[in-house]
Amino acid sequence: MATMTQKEIRAWLIQESPQALTLLFQEADSVRRRFVGDEVHLRGLVEIGNRCIRDCIYCGLRGPNKLANRYRMKAVEIIECAQKAYDLGYGTVVLQSGEHPEIAAGWLGEIIREIKRNYPVAVALSMGERSEKDYAYWRLCGADRYLLKFETSDPRLLLRIQTPLPDGRSRLDRLRVLKKLGYEIGAGMMVGLPGQRASSLAEDLLWLTRLDADMIAIGPYIPHGDTPMGKNALADLRFMERSELKTLPMTMKALALARLLCPTANIPATTALATLEDDGYSAGLAAGANVIMPNITPMSYRKKYEIYPDSAACREEDTHSTATAAIEAAGRTAGRGWGSRRRADFVFNSPFNGVQKDEFHKSI
Ligand code: 5AD
Repeated sequence: MATMTQKEIRAWLIQESPQALTLLFQEADSVRRRFVGDEVHLRGLVEIGNRCIRDCIYCGLRGPNKLANRYRMKAVEIIECAQKAYDLGYGTVVLQSGEHPEIAAGWLGEIIREIKRNYPVAVALSMGERSEKDYAYWRLCGADRYLLKFETSDPRLLLRIQTPLPDGRSRLDRLRVLKKLGYEIGAGMMVGLPGQRASSLAEDLLWLTRLDADMIAIGPYIPHGDTPMGKNALADLRFMERSELKTLPMTMKALALARLLCPTANIPATTALATLEDDGYSAGLAAGANVIMPNITPMSYRKKYEIYPDSAACREEDTHSTATAAIEAAGRTAGRGWGSRRRADFVFNSPFNGVQKDEFHKSI
């Protein structure tokens, strides 16, 4: 595994020299090519429900947001989406929802079983913080992967933005449980949260290596006007100005560093990135990403799944062609098969490793 200290990572995060950053992105691109190849894996994202009992101050789906239009898809509609993913040639279906008891363990378990019975796809879940019993049950039903972003590893920032569950377990704890249960685990964070520092973002990146994350999602924080954090952020001109200048480049740097630190991980060019930047998928693919997650939720529901406003996923119905256009423009190919993580069990030879790492730092 590539080694970098927290200080070195932080130095890269605050680096602003265009020449140095070009080198960073090129290096991430070359590590990506060497370790995960030119295939870009497509995962069909289905947002199965947006009710949520949590009160995370950044998220539009938070329970107290009375302005959100709530829904839960029917089981048959979810299966139809799995069919669509399969028809489009995707190797993975991702089921995502808010945290809510209406996503009952048994109900979802049957849906997982039905998808696994009918289509040769991997099933990834992203249902937030649930009990170990639910995680174990869904794994038994055939779920292969679980995505749970820890958002920030800074305990003080986290306490400000999210109320912990009474069981006292953190998302980092839950990720370890999920790994133990045999899931491929996806972790990650938001970049540009008010009060987030480069040093804590560097620590987040180190957590990805400690967790041995199989999948990594890093997206920019986008203020949502119907949330407490978003309301404050949008009213704070100094924050907004800083954020407009810094959040995108910071996300790109974090993405590239994640690739260098976790060379064999599957890393998407996120929809949040594409929301802030016209050619966000292409930018992500050029800086270390090897995955795109086209949104295949029926449009009527998709519009209601408003984690943050103006999602790129809602700009056009056909996110498949947006994704394939970005893949083609990058001269890459759509992945075949599940696109699970392939581990390299050899010591790799990255400029970020050992002696060569120092030379790389000197060279810029
Ligand atoms: N901006 C960007 N990402 C957000 N998420 C939630 N709210 C926002 C926001 N305002 C992300 C979180 C969560 C995922 C489902 O969506 O990282 O884990």
